[in-house]
Amino acid sequence: MRHLMSPVDFTVEELDEILELAGKIEKNPEKYAHVCDGKKLATCFYEPSTRTRLSFEAAMMNLGGNVIGFSSAASSSAAKGESVADTIRMISCYADICAMRHPKEGAPLVASMHSSIPVINAGDGGHQHPTQTITDLLTIKSLKGRLGDLTIGLCGDLKFGRTVHSLIKALSRYENVRFVLISPEELRIPGYIREEVLEANNMEYKEVVRLEEVMPELDLLYMTRVQRERFFNEEDYVRMKDFYILDKKKMELAKEDMLVLHPLPRVNEISVEVDDDPRAVYFKQVQYGVYARMALILTLLEIKVD
Ligand code: NCD
Repeated sequence: MRHLMSPVDFTVEELDEILELAGKIEKNPEKYAHVCDGKKLATCFYEPSTRTRLSFEAAMMNLGGNVIGFSSAASSSAAKGESVADTIRMISCYADICAMRHPKEGAPLVASMHSSIPVINAGDGGHQHPTQTITDLLTIKSLKGRLGDLTIGLCGDLKFGRTVHSLIKALSRYENVRFVLISPEELRIPGYIREEVLEANNMEYKEVVRLEEVMPELDLLYMTRVQRERFFNEEDYVRMKDFYILDKKKMELAKEDMLVLHPLPRVNEISVEVDDDPRAVYFKQVQYGVYARMALILTLLEIKVD
């Protein structure tokens, strides 16, 4: 039995297979409509979510399965003081697979150690978000045709943004990927990502503060919101929140085929006027998230469709 805590829990080959399966599902969804008949997914969300929880639920339903779960710590026995370890023991009796989001880094890992069903990390604090990364990889592969030979700008809250941490980890395994890390000084990428991922893999990267100066060199721009819930005080958040606003004027500086991704939710960091630009693919990315999670559920449940 396997769990998914970090995107690099899968080898590059295994990830390729998942992306390939997601592509097949996209082309022929009917073929997969009943492959999870009788199976149950539990979504255990101790932290707010729209896309991740609902896309997991839609993914399981698209496969013919059912869904149980809770969408806040307040509506679960956590409010009574139950530990994650005990909760997953219960869930293991009710469901075949579990997606868990938690504000504490490592909580899904603890759950996986006490679980008899596969546990998927659906976001743990400011740490990792591997299913968003599979979604991002699928989006990039589908729309750019490759995962290597890319200059990728990551912009916004690189300190607390778990989607960015997972994406860097995953992309560090492809050839000729160059990162441009765009953030205010206070929200720079954590030291452990710089040392253990970027430097350990000899990745080419630079850190800059101004988005405008690097726009022309990017093949992809991955925008992120400032993670308000991880700040220690509101004043710092207010000071940082509108540091970057991608608008039409800045888009004029970019390559004609540069893509803009965003894990969403967006707050102010992308002006709505950019939504009509054909390079803005963040809503397409949401659709890829469903195919990615369908492929992941099948892989972890070891369900083979011919
Ligand atoms: C992200 C998350 O939860 O980390 N959202 C998501 O899952 N699509 C990004 C965010 O909340 O900013």
